[in-house]
Amino acid sequence: MVETYKRTSNPMMNRPVVKPELVEWMRESQTQLSGEITNVLEFAQTNNIPVIPHETVLYFQMLLSLMRPQRILEIGTAIGFSALMMSESAPNAEIVTIDRNPEMIALAKENLKQYDHRKQIILKEGDAAEVLTELTGTFDIIFMDSAKSKYVEFLPRALELLSDNGVILMDDIFQAGEILVPIMEIKRSQRALERGLRRLFDEVFNNPKYMTSVLPLGDGLLMIKKA
Ligand SMILES: C[S@@+](CC[C@H](N)C(=O)[O-])C[C@H]1O[C@@H](n2cnc3c(N)ncnc32)[C@H](O)[C@@H]1O
Repeated sequence: MVETYKRTSNPMMNRPVVKPELVEWMRESQTQLSGEITNVLEFAQTNNIPVIPHETVLYFQMLLSLMRPQRILEIGTAIGFSALMMSESAPNAEIVTIDRNPEMIALAKENLKQYDHRKQIILKEGDAAEVLTELTGTFDIIFMDSAKSKYVEFLPRALELLSDNGVILMDDIFQAGEILVPIMEIKRSQRALERGLRRLFDEVFNNPKYMTSVLPLGDGLLMIKKA
């Protein structure tokens, strides 16, 4: 019998935007992950490596099952948890995932060797700004889960790489509500990130070129599609 695994802790629980008890409910009541992927999740939790929270996992599983993507691009592999989760939900898809951190890359390689049974995942090492210029073809889903200040800079290239009916998803766009705080009241060290996010919102909201939808999952998930 496959053991199920319950999420017990996540760094995002400390700065919830949605009522904590509802976040807890979304995480505890819905279907739990099972199988090998739970080993990767458990490692991430034990070692404080940020990965997408459970409600976002379930949303991706639903989206991938509906969209049946052929190719997925991810910026921000970390140890490969979200890439492996997507490979399970889209067993026919090729998944290209990018990371620049050597420690994460080493751990991701181990995990992919062990758990990417269908050899769906291609790990590209380097800064996404550079790797994005080298990619060819189109992607049905582009998931950004990396440095938030750069989302706006990655957007033009991501749009070139996006298939006609494809969707871009960007994680952690609420910044625990800091996006509502005037920029000069934000800690200096956080301002570049906050400025980047605000430039992104200025670009994509109220722009006839895009359809957008913000989902209050985890620390906020922004979906962008060509209109
Ligand atoms: C939040 S973690 C990704 C978690 C992963 N998506 C998951 O849920 O399993 C963010 C990762 O993005 C990587 N990263 C940040 N900025 C990057 C950039 N400009 N290019 C490539 N990787 C980047 C970091 O090294 C880190 O491993």
